[in-house]
Amino acid sequence: MRVLVTGGSGFIGSHTVVSLLEAGHDPVVVDNLSNASRSVLTRIGEIAGRQPEFHEADIRDRDTMGSIAASGFDACIHFAALKAVAESVEEPMLYYDNNVGGTIALLEVLVASDITTFVFSSSATVYGDPNKLPVTEDMPTGVATNPYGWTKIMMEQILRDVQGANPDWSVSLLRYFNPVGAHPSGLIGEEPRGTPNNLMPYVAKVAAGELARLSVFGGDYPTSDGTGVRDYIHVVDLAEGHVAALNTHVGDAGVHTYNLGTGKGSSVLEVLHSYENACGKSIPYEVVERRAGDVAANWADVTRAESVLGWKTTRDLADMCADSWRWQQRTR
Ligand code: NAD
Ligand code: WQD
Repeated sequence: MRVLVTGGSGFIGSHTVVSLLEAGHDPVVVDNLSNASRSVLTRIGEIAGRQPEFHEADIRDRDTMGSIAASGFDACIHFAALKAVAESVEEPMLYYDNNVGGTIALLEVLVASDITTFVFSSSATVYGDPNKLPVTEDMPTGVATNPYGWTKIMMEQILRDVQGANPDWSVSLLRYFNPVGAHPSGLIGEEPRGTPNNLMPYVAKVAAGELARLSVFGGDYPTSDGTGVRDYIHVVDLAEGHVAALNTHVGDAGVHTYNLGTGKGSSVLEVLHSYENACGKSIPYEVVERRAGDVAANWADVTRAESVLGWKTTRDLADMCADSWRWQQRTR
């Protein structure tokens, strides 16, 4: 399949492009490089043996996107978005414009070009503070605690409505839990700008000696050791989930919603100790106040993805930490 991949040079997009190439598909990457570098394309080529076609473009630029789409595609996987939660609180209009406005512009181009299979990067954040664990796809979406989360809830609703108005469309809503790790080659991974906001990239920089210690946000949650629990998923497993969703649902009219996680929760201290094993050092930390907007625990019921997509994760927390650490050492 020839697949238009927006945001395909970013963290999850680049790993998915590798998985698409390895599965024999023909991904075409569109990225405005606002949070990625061009060299990612070369490194994808080193891993997969060939480089994808690349266009430096913004998804809000309807004219350019229209001329790219005119070359013909079987499907679109849409990763392009801004994703920094705290920045979204400071700059809400930037987030609504880029994420929601960008998605609407892209959908207009796809409708006009008759590209009818769409795979969307959604997030576990759409569940808000879940009242039951593990979360299943039929639970109602919740109340977001920040503009970034609202953009995901809004974009899911826009996609359900666009599918309703275009009943031949196949829309897959993939709700990622906490993607971490890197490609085992050490050639591609996450490149946060400035100080990382997310747990594993922060731990990686403490392990590397670039940051002094981890602040553990809250030690009094109702969890096994008092720290927050999340469902961490290796980015290569997540990438393979996209290929499974694409293969299963190309041309399959309807809205298909999946949790992509491991189905297993890990606490902040479990992640920290697993990372210590991976890097062979002790990682300094202190327990501080809870972070505003955090939930105590969140992990996925992945029964639907396993049974319908025939996909399940094969990499555990030790793999995630080992691959993150290899990537961290290469980027120093
Ligand atoms: P990323 O920032 O590494 O990748 C996003 C890519 O999109 C970047 O390469 C960026 O340059 C590009 N981009 C942004 N706005 C664009 C625009 N207007 N036009 C063209 N390109 C644009 O982020 P990621 O972690 O790979 O996330 C990919 C998707 O997955 C996003 O939609 C994100 O919201 C979603 N998601 C991420 C996580 C996570 O924890 N990383 C969790 C759930 C969902
Ligand atoms: C994980 C755990 C923290 C940093 C966020 C977004 C979400 C999604 C993924 C895209 C929590 C704790 C963290 C630190 C800590 N993105 N922590 N010290 O909050 O589950 O999800 O990223 O859709 O929308 O909200 O991930 O990695 O930030 O935190 O103790 O320095 O680690 O409290 O328990 P989160 P995270």
